[in-house]
Amino acid sequence: MHAANRAKQDEYYTRLEDIEKELSYYRKHFEGKVVFCNCDDPFESNFFKYFAINFNFLKLKKLICTCYVGSPVSHTKLNDLPLFQKNQKLPYKIEITEVSDMNGDGAVDLSDIEALLRSDNNNLTILDEDGDFRSEECIEYLKESDIVVTNPPFSLFREYVSQLMKYGKKFIILGNPNAVTYKEIFPLLKANKMWIGVKPWSEELYFNVPKERERWLVSNKKEGSAYVIRNGQVLGRAPVLWYTNLDIDKRHESLIMYKKYSPDEYPKYDNYDAVNVDKVSDIPEDYEGVLGVPITFLDKYNPDQFDIVGLAPERGRFVLQNKKYENAVQHNSDGSIQSGNKVNDGPVLAFEEKPGKFPYYTADNSDKYLQVLYARILIRRKHEN
Ligand SMILES: C[S@@+](CC[C@H](N)C(=O)[O-])C[C@H]1O[C@@H](n2cnc3c(N)ncnc32)[C@H](O)[C@@H]1O
Repeated sequence: MHAANRAKQDEYYTRLEDIEKELSYYRKHFEGKVVFCNCDDPFESNFFKYFAINFNFLKLKKLICTCYVGSPVSHTKLNDLPLFQKNQKLPYKIEITEVSDMNGDGAVDLSDIEALLRSDNNNLTILDEDGDFRSEECIEYLKESDIVVTNPPFSLFREYVSQLMKYGKKFIILGNPNAVTYKEIFPLLKANKMWIGVKPWSEELYFNVPKERERWLVSNKKEGSAYVIRNGQVLGRAPVLWYTNLDIDKRHESLIMYKKYSPDEYPKYDNYDAVNVDKVSDIPEDYEGVLGVPITFLDKYNPDQFDIVGLAPERGRFVLQNKKYENAVQHNSDGSIQSGNKVNDGPVLAFEEKPGKFPYYTADNSDKYLQVLYARILIRRKHEN
């Protein structure tokens, strides 16, 4: 993704229905806990709404939300609170330790939360710094919290996760699926320090976007690809996964395998000591060695059933990779050729005959035709007793 596009995706706001759906699988984890939403303008964020409305149901101890000064929507709905000067953009924090039916209508809903905030400004304070999740004061709230739940800015995902790890926090966060291959993120998945949440990998989410982004999407993109219109509202589409380190049942469900290994169907890579599997559903039940599987495998990963041994590409680390192609050449469908260093960026299948698909590669230290595949997770069966 280009940097500009990434920055725009930093302003994709999660819908309440998607939060409710995912978080319904984590209820048991919240009792007596301090929840921190640290990329969330409370009156715009549905994470805040979800936890405020469900505060008693989940038996939360405390909810803390901090708002970044740079947020394009920051406190637009709270401008009339005495704390704020009209139209001033200030970073602030909301802390909730008790939610009751303030307006006496028999139900706790958002109007009660608003009433609560209006009645006691101590819940709402202006931050000294800018509300950046990396700022000292936000780190103090992080230390105080048990579980962090949010959709952080996509462009800062690596830093965001490394901060959660540094402070040993539990979390449920949204991130891009490609993050699984990041050199900072993959080792955490491999070491079972984080995993994919409940929403299936293939299920898409749609997001609320600022007005300006709505207009841009409608004039520059095709409906159905980057956005959809539902009930007259433009929603941005972004491929996302939930990432968590809280236990969920899905993580203990075993993949059902029905295929048998054969060398023809599962060829060995030329540059990794592993055999290739093109579809997760085709993982053979009887192969004892290392299998290279699509990254979507992580959606089905049960650590009692498989070990993750690595990622191809290793990007020059040469732990599992056993070959580097020299002076590689890339052959394109129009007959042109170019430097073929890309062949060293992934698992490679080697053929005696020219493959039908382009591009293919040749190299000085190989007498075969080479084809490089998209990233594969390298796994091995575990023996369940
Ligand atoms: C992808 S949006 C999601 C907003 C909200 N969490 C939600 O899901 O609706 C990311 C949010 O992080 C805010 N943000 C950007 N950089 C930040 C930073 N360094 N610290 C805290 N928040 C930041 C943005 O203003 C934006 O509101």
